[in-house]
Amino acid sequence: MRKLAAGNWKMNGLKADGIALAKDLAARAARDALGCELLVCPPATLLAPIAEALASSSIALGGQNCHGEPKGAHTGEISATMLKDAGCAYVILGHSERRAEQGESDAVVCAKIEAARGAGLSAILCVGETLAQRDAGQALDVVARQLEASLPKGLDPSEIAVAYEPVWAIGTGRTPTPLQIAEVHAHIRTCLGGLVRDPGNTRILYGGSVKPDNAQALMSVANVDGALVGGASLVAADFWAIAKACA
Ligand code: 13P
Repeated sequence: MRKLAAGNWKMNGLKADGIALAKDLAARAARDALGCELLVCPPATLLAPIAEALASSSIALGGQNCHGEPKGAHTGEISATMLKDAGCAYVILGHSERRAEQGESDAVVCAKIEAARGAGLSAILCVGETLAQRDAGQALDVVARQLEASLPKGLDPSEIAVAYEPVWAIGTGRTPTPLQIAEVHAHIRTCLGGLVRDPGNTRILYGGSVKPDNAQALMSVANVDGALVGGASLVAADFWAIAKACA
């Protein structure tokens, strides 16, 4: 299975710097074909210009969210079909920032994954425990519960990737130990057994303070099939170094 290096730009990037970043990555990808897949997920306002900047490159485009309905009276929302129409192949769903700030429940996330599937997008489902939950010894249970409640049954590996993103590791510079990551990723693989058609071929990404200097160690942990990168994905050289570690 080819690893996936995914950049989640979150609410960062105006036209000029976003396009420059995408072009920089496209130029690197043209010079140096990596053995992993590359994905950038810019804010919605930049999807069209970034799709254009990446048009002749191998780098895929993704959204950071979609609505559970295909269209209609949902002011301010974007449908999975619209993302597909804008050139996306992927969409990040259930990110902990959206769960916290927008109150997204597992049921809402499940509807969004169905919508993504209907539009032919591959969903990246984010799961992960808070620090309080980890300290209480609940990390594995939390992740299992999120998977069970957010995943529609019978998905193919092409329709889903899971990103393990411990909430306490996001934007903090802290990461779990390789042993802790291995434990959760193995557990996710086991849980996927009852939920998706081919769990062995479903990518499980790690996300949370992935940087050039820790990427090699994180990407060599068992059952880590790629990275979901926040802050470091906004700097071409850093994201590229992480992609190289994935490859
Ligand atoms: P950081 O890499 O900035 O910690 O963010 C991780 C993340 O939330 C990716 O979705």
